Amino acid sequence: MHLTDCHNTEHFRKFAKQRLPSPIFHYIDGAADDEVTYRRNTEAFETCDLVPNVLAGVENIDMSTTVMGQKLELPLFLSPTALQRLFHHDGERAVGKAAEKFGTMFGISSLATVSIEEIGSMISTPKLFQLYVHKDKELTKSMIDRCKDANFEAMALTVDTIVGGNRERDLHTGLPLLQTHLRSLLVLLRTGVGSELFFPGQIRAFSTKGFRSRRDQYSPIGRRLFQHYAGSIYGLESG
Ligand SMILES: Cc1cc2nc3c(=O)[nH]c(=O)nc-3n(C[C@H](O)[C@H](O)[C@H](O)COP(=O)(O)O)c2cc1C
Repeated sequence: MHLTDCHNTEHFRKFAKQRLPSPIFHYIDGAADDEVTYRRNTEAFETCDLVPNVLAGVENIDMSTTVMGQKLELPLFLSPTALQRLFHHDGERAVGKAAEKFGTMFGISSLATVSIEEIGSMISTPKLFQLYVHKDKELTKSMIDRCKDANFEAMALTVDTIVGGNRERDLHTGLPLLQTHLRSLLVLLRTGVGSELFFPGQIRAFSTKGFRSRRDQYSPIGRRLFQHYAGSIYGLESG
């Protein structure tokens, strides 16, 4: 199978399965326990209909929308996923460029393998940083400061990763062992972000009070509650 044979996400999935080391493929493809929620989410997505707007003219197609105050050319954005250079040497650089090409937002994970600064200087379209609150308050603060300095427009505060999911496929492939060595692995990948982190041991229980004071401290960052995926995330929006 070749890249030229890939015409939809299922083809890309098969291609990835063929090319990636098994622990990496299953880390991306797998989910928690019996993967019931994963299947339900996929089925729920399949029930969405696209309603065609016929005889409306096709010269100027406008699919733009506003998400967290950011104008996007597409009604989709790229949500943060960790460790992208594990599965492609360009990782976040390529994904960020793709987001820019289509005029949509790029979400960078706290566990990214490219630095906040590099992404900030590389793409001009809206950028979202996904933040874990760490035991080390200075680490959390420095990440927020770096995002502000790198002109990130939005921040998503993750509150549902106090404990990791029971990812049975990973137990099978040995990925937890890999995670144990994540820090050195990240240093190896010469990351700008994730190398500072221990995951998930240092993520501390998130307190709403702490979040409020953080928000005030970093005013004019605004706040908007939004439901992003099967877990609650508080979105912070600049301006
Ligand atoms: C391999 C992988 C890694 C992910 N890493 C992160 C992460 O670091 N931070 C985060 O907030 N969400 C992460 N997510 C969740 C995604 O951002 C997204 O919300 C989730 O996959 C649901 O979207 P989907 O149904 O299109 O996959 C990850 C998802 C996957 C599949």
